[in-house]
Amino acid sequence: MTRVLVLYYSSYGHVRALAEAEAEGARSVPGTHVDLRRVPETLLADIRQKAGFAADETPAATPADLEDYDAIIFGTPTLFGMMAGQMKSFLDQAGGLWARNALVGKVAAVFASTGSQHGGHEATLLSTQIPLQHFGMLIAGMPYTFAGQKTGEEIVGGAPYGAGTIAGADGSRTPSETDLAGAHFQGAHVARIAARLSGVDWQEEAA
Ligand SMILES: Cc1cc2nc3c(=O)[nH]c(=O)nc-3n(C[C@H](O)[C@H](O)[C@H](O)COP(=O)(O)O)c2cc1C
Repeated sequence: MTRVLVLYYSSYGHVRALAEAEAEGARSVPGTHVDLRRVPETLLADIRQKAGFAADETPAATPADLEDYDAIIFGTPTLFGMMAGQMKSFLDQAGGLWARNALVGKVAAVFASTGSQHGGHEATLLSTQIPLQHFGMLIAGMPYTFAGQKTGEEIVGGAPYGAGTIAGADGSRTPSETDLAGAHFQGAHVARIAARLSGVDWQEEAA
C-alpha cells in the first residue's frame, strides 16, 4: 500500500473541507492508504473562542508521524500572506527528521484557503513549499490537467502550485465544486506519483 497523509490546519473549516476532498482523491487510487490529521492548535482557548474557531475532532499528528508516509499533502489557511503559524510551528519541530534526511524523496503537495483572491493565495502555496524542499521532499502541484483552474467564469482558488479556495473577506464563501474537484484531483495526483516512486531508496544517492 502507498501511504498518504493529508495534514492540515484550519480555524473555520475551509481548509478542512479541502483536506477531506484531498483525502477522498488519494483514496480513489487503488492501493492507497490515507490518513487525515490536523496539526495541533497553538492558540489559547480564550482567543479561539473569541475568534469563533470551529471545533475539530480530527486526530492531531505529531512530527514523528511524517516518517510513516510515502506522501504528505499539507493544507493551510493564508494568514498575513503565508502559512498559519500552527503549521510552521509543526514543521519547526521536525528538525530531527531533517537531520536524519528522513523525509528525502517523499512526495509533498500544498493546498490553501485565502480570504481574498489576491490576499496571498499563490504566495502561501509557494512559500509553504520552501521548508518542504529543505526536507528534500518532491513537490507535486495541481497541473493544468485539472482544467477547472483555467475558468474565468467563476471565482476559483488553486493554481499550478496547489489546490485552494477563496473564503471571502468574512469567511462566508464555502469551497465551490470546482475547488473541491481541484483538491480531489490533487489528492489522486499525489497518490499516483507516490505509488510510482515507492520502493526507491533515496539514501543510496547520498554523497
Ligand atoms: C490572523 C489572520 C490573518 C489573515 N490573513 C489573511 C491574508 O493575509 N490574506 C487573506 O486573503 N486572508 C487572510 N485571512 C483570512 C483567512 O485566510 C481565512 O480566514 C481562511 O482562509 C479560512 O480558512 P479556514 O476556514 O480553514 O480557517 C486571515 C485570517 C486571520 C484570522
